[in-house]
Amino acid sequence: MKKGKRLPIFELGNPLLRKIAKPAKFPLSESIRTLIRDMSFTMYETNGVGIAAPQVGASLQIFIVASRPNKRYPYAPMMRPTVMVNPSVTSVGDVTVVDWEGCLSVPNIRGLVPCSNVVDVEYQDISGKHHVRTFTGFPARIIQHEFAHIRGLLFTDRVKSSKDLYAQAEFEKMLARRTKTEVPKSA
Ligand code: NI
Repeated sequence: MKKGKRLPIFELGNPLLRKIAKPAKFPLSESIRTLIRDMSFTMYETNGVGIAAPQVGASLQIFIVASRPNKRYPYAPMMRPTVMVNPSVTSVGDVTVVDWEGCLSVPNIRGLVPCSNVVDVEYQDISGKHHVRTFTGFPARIIQHEFAHIRGLLFTDRVKSSKDLYAQAEFEKMLARRTKTEVPKSA
């Protein structure tokens, strides 16, 4: 059982989402540890595959990446949920992939966002231990999305054109049309 409290999500227009988040100091305080637990709980409750501290009103460089198939992202691959504290993306691959994103802070909107297929990321875990890891595919996309949050950016800033933004209902209609006419991906 995942314990925690469901936190209110700050939404597009809230100035806190536009601030550059501050690094977290180690050892993490009890209140930051509780915040991370509550962020995780909130992410699972809302079918998110990631969540960043500014989305729950804490301007700190902390996010959780937890790709898994769910209602909002049925084709997301499974990964071990990872808390990243003070992360930095140290390099990105040359291949840009365009795919759909959504965000708990931008309700009912989806957008086609270009991002790199591979990222190298350095971060600390909750005990302060440093990690250097490479992620590819959808987890790499989540990391770039969450990293943008702690830099004061949202996916709506990262679309190539505002025409690539869809209302959720139109997004679902478009997917339904596509699955009728296209062979589904075997991956
Ligand atoms: Ni988001």
